[in-house]
Amino acid sequence: MIKVAICGAAGRMGSLIAQNVLLEDDMTLVAAFDVKDVGRSMGDVRISDVKRIHDVLAETKPDVLVDFTVASGAVENAKAAAEHGVNIVIGTTGFTPEQYEEMGNAIDKKVSAVISPNCAVGVNVFWKLIGDAAKYLSDADVEIVEAHHKRKKDAPSGTAKKAAEIVRTSLGKEVSVHSIRSGDIVGDHLVLFAGDGERLEIKHQAHSRQAFASGAIKAIKWVTGASAQKGVFSMNDVLGM
Ligand SMILES: NC(=O)c1ccc[n+]([C@@H]2O[C@H](COP(=O)([O-])OP(=O)(O)OC[C@H]3O[C@@H](n4cnc5c(N)ncnc54)[C@H](O)[C@@H]3O)[C@@H](O)[C@H]2O)c1
Repeated sequence: MIKVAICGAAGRMGSLIAQNVLLEDDMTLVAAFDVKDVGRSMGDVRISDVKRIHDVLAETKPDVLVDFTVASGAVENAKAAAEHGVNIVIGTTGFTPEQYEEMGNAIDKKVSAVISPNCAVGVNVFWKLIGDAAKYLSDADVEIVEAHHKRKKDAPSGTAKKAAEIVRTSLGKEVSVHSIRSGDIVGDHLVLFAGDGERLEIKHQAHSRQAFASGAIKAIKWVTGASAQKGVFSMNDVLGM
């Protein structure tokens, strides 16, 4: 049985992942953390104040801590998990390079961690396709357009930033990213390669947050599996891509 703890349990992604964990035969939810809704029941556990994370991790000994919170909180939560020898899945976005490095240093060789700005399987294939297309379209202008719901805190999205990085690495040129925040859009990403007389568009649309939750469940299984090594990994490793 995989013992799971969730940070951001009262949030949109955290609560959905908790529902998914409760439906998995080989997983059990042993702890839930947030800065709000403390004491609310979630399966057999109650949401704990994240200030108590060290005590609760010591008491409940999870196999994995899943974090879908905010960048500054995720850094501290990852440090706490690594200190307690708890494997990590981080879906939180918006890290500065310094925050990312701080997390990486804390994780180092202590535990196995998957950090991904987008856990959806389709998005990871989308990133791969962008890299493949960029190899053959070095003359094209490249634009990225992303759209999300109006409550999303970071812009551009972590997914768009990674897409831009893939193009930049492949073509050695800057890419414009256009962000839209509107209504309840779950997550759309479009990469446009425009040349003389033609254009190629690669597009991913998330229909529901379940796309991300299903990927997070795969990541939980991977970081707690027999073949997981210690260190920081991505969904590419989880998906064998
Ligand atoms: N990787 C992916 O596939 C993926 C998919 C969707 C969203 N996200 C990212 O996940 C994060 C959360 O998204 P959301 O839509 O669920 O947001 P949300 O605002 O609905 O939920 C975040 C939750 O975290 C809580 N929180 C804030 N600081 C905390 C801390 N220090 N410790 C514990 N809990 C804390 C908030 O109170 C809230 O309940 C964002 O960074 C978002 O971009 C990633």
